[in-house]
Amino acid sequence: MTFHIITIFPNLFESYLADSMMKRAIASKNISVKFYNPRDFTTNKHNKVDDIPYGGGPGMIMTVQPIIDAWKKARGRSQKKKFKTIILSPGGTEFTTAYAKQSVKKYTDIIFICGRYEGIDARVKKIIDKQAEEVSIGNYVLTGGELAAMVMIDSISRQVDGVLGNKQSLEEERISSHEMYTRPLVVEHQGKKYTVPDVLQSGNHKLIDEWRNHH
Ligand code: ADE
Repeated sequence: MTFHIITIFPNLFESYLADSMMKRAIASKNISVKFYNPRDFTTNKHNKVDDIPYGGGPGMIMTVQPIIDAWKKARGRSQKKKFKTIILSPGGTEFTTAYAKQSVKKYTDIIFICGRYEGIDARVKKIIDKQAEEVSIGNYVLTGGELAAMVMIDSISRQVDGVLGNKQSLEEERISSHEMYTRPLVVEHQGKKYTVPDVLQSGNHKLIDEWRNHH
């Protein structure tokens, strides 16, 4: 899976991609990440990527031309018919694990367009048209699409074959639905002892599974 990120702040991604699962996934070539900075695609003298809104109002709007030119470059490096463009927006389709799974099945390339300022000129979506979808990672407003893209990249990468060493880690439903414990067996805090449920030490996997289904 190749992620193409259109952003005026590529540095925001650096530390997250440089460690842990993302670092391994990139090193093993299970995923790759490419950046396109709209500022590098500007045709105006001052490399301006934003302007004031028609009709008035606060803030600045990202202009069409640098984003579309960056998108064309990303599209040119993607596999035809197997790429998807996602415009990060708090008002878009809600992102879920199911969405991540589907994305891995359907696409080899995902192009993320990260907005800053008050938003992106609506004509960007109109020009890209059917190949684009607005996606939100949750019902809250972020300062820009970068964090949202990073969240999606993390979640989608987990679904790519070979990224998680231990296949069992993919059993998200199990992991999120029961209590987990590790050593030590007893934790003492303010005079009280917190121990691990006996069943988890029993070695009886049938009983353990039953217990896990209820905790
Ligand atoms: N941009 C700003 N807020 C966002 C959100 N919640 N999801 C996706 N993109 C965003």
